[in-house]
Amino acid sequence: MKRPIAYLAGVGKYAPPRIMKNAEFAELGLETDDAWIVQRTGIRQRHVAAPHETNRTMSAAAARIAMERAGVTPGELDVIALGTASPDRLLPSTAVDLQAELGATRAAAFDVMAACSSFLYGLIIAEGLMQSGSADTALVVGTEKLTTIVDWKDRSTCVLFGDGAGAAVLKRATGGAGILSTFMRSDGRLAELLYRPSGGASRPFDAQVLQERSFYVKMEGREVFKHAVRSMSEAADRALDGAKLTGEDIDLMIPHQANVRIIEATAKHARIPMDKVYVNVDRYGNTSSASVAIALEEALTSGRIVPGMTVLLVAFGAGFTWASLVIRF
Ligand code: UT7
Repeated sequence: MKRPIAYLAGVGKYAPPRIMKNAEFAELGLETDDAWIVQRTGIRQRHVAAPHETNRTMSAAAARIAMERAGVTPGELDVIALGTASPDRLLPSTAVDLQAELGATRAAAFDVMAACSSFLYGLIIAEGLMQSGSADTALVVGTEKLTTIVDWKDRSTCVLFGDGAGAAVLKRATGGAGILSTFMRSDGRLAELLYRPSGGASRPFDAQVLQERSFYVKMEGREVFKHAVRSMSEAADRALDGAKLTGEDIDLMIPHQANVRIIEATAKHARIPMDKVYVNVDRYGNTSSASVAIALEEALTSGRIVPGMTVLLVAFGAGFTWASLVIRF
């Protein structure tokens, strides 16, 4: 395949205005404190969506900014790939809600369910659709309202997650800028290390589920941590190999923002110094599908990425899923 096929023409983000600091968890009666959360995760605060801020509204806000920057109208979108682990409804997809909200009447819209890797999966799927001739212009979104699916009585998970949305418009590449390499992988044998045990068809919602609180996210944090480091390191290697580059050729790495210690271990493995790694987990917590999309938007709008730079995106999430891309800007 001759690359680049697609380039990122515009990005956007939305973060709910309500910011929750670590100290607020103790006020909710949880046995935790700022020092533990900062030391173990690097997180200092997260954005929390209000009832009226849904994935539909947050993703639309991010998408409108991305489309304006890309010079693309809703009617020009051929594809909308939306990643989320916290859909507004279980049927139909959140992507069709976004499509309706935008008035993107020509697009084929679908959700990508790859947890924290969803935005990267979405970019890779969209590039593939462009390669096959099925699309010229794609909107890829990551959006989460995770604060509605975490157990606010479980200190080992609820301190980690936050809400928000990020979006990117992909257009057909005309020069050397664009996606240079991609890698995606999953391992369903490990699904139960990070999952929602009930609320779906295998264990429908009922009074017992409510009592057990088993419709909330459950995680074996230490196991997930180990797999995250291993798989993100592999993903970094594979995308670099695919682009025939090494860590030294990378101007900026944008990793999934779950835990600063996972980010540091991945960067060390890839031989990328931390001053070339974008970190915002301190301000957002883990926003799953939205994480890399929000960080990418910040890196571009703050000038951390300028034209000519080579950027490595890498993510890992429930499933497990992991993915990576090298992009030239
Ligand atoms: O988005 C992709 C997937 N998610 C991740 O990548 C997350 C991966 N995992 C992690 O980031 C880390 O494992 C955590 C941040 C979740 C936990 O950090 P850890 O260093 O692995 O801690 P731990 O789970 O081994 O727990 C250590 C202790 C435990 O107490 P004991 O058993 O040693 O007495 C926990 O009960 O810390 C306790 N603990 C807490 N203490 C204060 C767990 N959560 C908290 C808390 N505040 N919020």
